[in-house]
Amino acid sequence: EKDGHDWFMRKEIFEQPRAVADSLLGRRDASGRLQLDEMRLADEELRDIDKIIIIACGTSFYAGMVAKYAIEHWTRTPVEVELASEFRYRDPIIDATTLIVAISQSGETADTLQAIRHARSQRAKVLAICNTNGSSIPRESDAVIYTHAGPEIGVASTKGFLTQLVACYLLALYIAQVKGTRFGDEIDEIMEHLEAMPGHIETVLSGADAVYSLAADHASSRSVLFLGRHAGYPVALEGALKLKELAYLHAEGFAAGELKHGPIALVEDGLPVLCVVPPKGRDQLHGKMLSGIQEVRARGARTICLAEEGDTSIEPYADELIRLPKVPVLLQPLVAIVPLQLFACELATVLGHDVDQPRNLAKSVTVE
Ligand code: F6R
Repeated sequence: EKDGHDWFMRKEIFEQPRAVADSLLGRRDASGRLQLDEMRLADEELRDIDKIIIIACGTSFYAGMVAKYAIEHWTRTPVEVELASEFRYRDPIIDATTLIVAISQSGETADTLQAIRHARSQRAKVLAICNTNGSSIPRESDAVIYTHAGPEIGVASTKGFLTQLVACYLLALYIAQVKGTRFGDEIDEIMEHLEAMPGHIETVLSGADAVYSLAADHASSRSVLFLGRHAGYPVALEGALKLKELAYLHAEGFAAGELKHGPIALVEDGLPVLCVVPPKGRDQLHGKMLSGIQEVRARGARTICLAEEGDTSIEPYADELIRLPKVPVLLQPLVAIVPLQLFACELATVLGHDVDQPRNLAKSVTVE
């Protein structure tokens, strides 16, 4: 049942090309327009939305952070992302023109469920992004986008996360289509990039052995840092969460620009720092990331850089280099998280931990 893998988690990591492809299936009609089957929110209702609040926990929250970059960029609608457990207790400003997006793989997370109940009592519309048909969160929402990851058995979410990202991109493009904020060709172009993702993820997975040996090299580390910027920042947070959960290692993700505001004090000789390097674009993200990497390296860090194919400027500053396919910055999380999942899975395996059942954790958290 694990298809020859030692862990369900590893099997699920390798299922990601299929899971992403399935989550993209049947989303466009014959004319190429996006259609979301269980959207159940009329175009007029969506056009009236003037604020989106994404609520989720854990890994799903990090998918929400990526979604913020995509939705704001493609739709120009303001987006907040909030931990479900904090949302209700801050007296959030919501009304009938607020769209709440609840992201939950299981559909049963108590904090998220309570948060949407609160939002609906304030007349907000709720859309769920969920992997479990008929679970509580989609049942109590106005609309739903189902991800098609298939059952996720490993406690640590992997294919759940990737398919949540896909659903978030689809939602962003759908809102852009309804609001008319983007022209058809651009939506088409992004959809084509998304449709190429299963192949790109396959490419990353074909490099798994190199990532495994890196993980084994770092098995005696006491602490590991992760750096990212822009859409790579949530990837850094998610990479760190995977390592905490599975390897019981101290791991922290930072926005690279925050380094000098404190975290750089943590850097000492030999500290592994995994760096998610943004694609080279017209903005200054790439250059700024590079200078962050130089700063930690100058203080003795061992830099493990995830950078796109053909980016040679990173080579002088990378002690180790993991290559990523060339994709747009907003979509990079879909490929960049994969080596970090493999890294955590392998490191935990080397340490002799039960990867599918990490200590103290449950697959679905039904208490607040
Ligand atoms: C981490 C992980 C958890 C879940 C979180 C939310 O690997 O799986 O952080 O993401 O408990 O669960 P769902 O998405 O089911 O609401």
